[in-house]
Amino acid sequence: MPVITSIEDLRQIYRRRVPRMFYDYAESGSWTEQTFRENTSDFAWIKLRQRVAVDMAGRSTKSTMIGEEVAMPVALAPVGLTGMQHADGEIKAARAAEKFGVPFTLSTMSICSIEDVAENTSKPFWFQVYTLKDDDFMRRLFERARAAKCSALVITVDLQVLGQRHRDLKNGLSAPPKLTPASIANMMTKVQWGLGMLGTKRRFFGNIVGHAKGVSDPGSLSEWTSQAFDPSLDWKRIAQFKEWWGGKLIVKGIMEPEDARRAADMGADAIVVSNHGGRQLDGAVSSIRMLPQVMDAVGDRVEVHLDSGIRSGQDVLKALSLGAKGTYVGRAYTYGLGAMGEAGVTKALEVIHKELDVSMALCGETDIANVGPHMLYVPQGFGDPTVPL
Ligand code: GLV
Repeated sequence: MPVITSIEDLRQIYRRRVPRMFYDYAESGSWTEQTFRENTSDFAWIKLRQRVAVDMAGRSTKSTMIGEEVAMPVALAPVGLTGMQHADGEIKAARAAEKFGVPFTLSTMSICSIEDVAENTSKPFWFQVYTLKDDDFMRRLFERARAAKCSALVITVDLQVLGQRHRDLKNGLSAPPKLTPASIANMMTKVQWGLGMLGTKRRFFGNIVGHAKGVSDPGSLSEWTSQAFDPSLDWKRIAQFKEWWGGKLIVKGIMEPEDARRAADMGADAIVVSNHGGRQLDGAVSSIRMLPQVMDAVGDRVEVHLDSGIRSGQDVLKALSLGAKGTYVGRAYTYGLGAMGEAGVTKALEVIHKELDVSMALCGETDIANVGPHMLYVPQGFGDPTVPL
């Protein structure tokens, strides 16, 4: 086993171990993937300021997200089909998050169901929902999340219609995978993955199959989204879901200050500046570039979180220094999961924690509560996407 020192190391092992169809699903953006790429590359425009002769002992990355204590402000993002990256993937990732002390967010499009994850973990997790047409299904989903003691609902508002990801269509992505000569040939080379899958019964969309009516092919993400998702979603409907849920609510998928204000007005506990990891609107600005404008608009009224593009603790530090109270990683932990199961998710969190902790210290701060813009050089115009970088 090679020595793993970075998230990129995990990605490379992941790429070798998991069937192509699921690697491609995680490692792609929509259409030209411009936004997917810039989500990560735009972090490089922000520079950290090195400070010296500062006492760097006694450091802490402990913080809170929506009032919950976290070992570092890095939650696991909702990722669809996680249980196809590794057998029982959602349970494995939730356990790693729980032991590390960071929130785990279960996707509606998970393989392990809400109940399954609750039975196999001991701390409350967060549950992500899409906004679907079927009110009965939505109400039952909220009830199920309440019964499972989920401590927050993360409502995704940027996927009423699905952005096209070329490779998913070409690969015929589905859960469980469709057996074609090409998919069989590829899966034959992924022995550990295959043995894991043969050893679990969790191979379908666990929150959906047997719960949703009128969906002709619940194995296909694209079929399901086009049939079940509510294209007419508006703020009134989001407020209705908030009322039905009745608990803490995080609104994910906000990019524009005006939308941030609407989410704050309706009483969200947090918003997530996110473009869905570059998987929806291709050509959108990176989420890190939109963060300053969103902070200006609502930073004093609502907790602002950020996802999309984070692959290191330095990225986390930059987002926090620009004012985010929390961040999420999706692909970064998925690489770990596909590479090494639960231990790989733990490894991903350890890598990010070390990068965050050491970089914070080298910038002259020892407590995550004190990070801020004084630690950064931000190019003029960074927060104004009309200015070319
Ligand atoms: C949503 O489930 C996605 O694939 O981005």
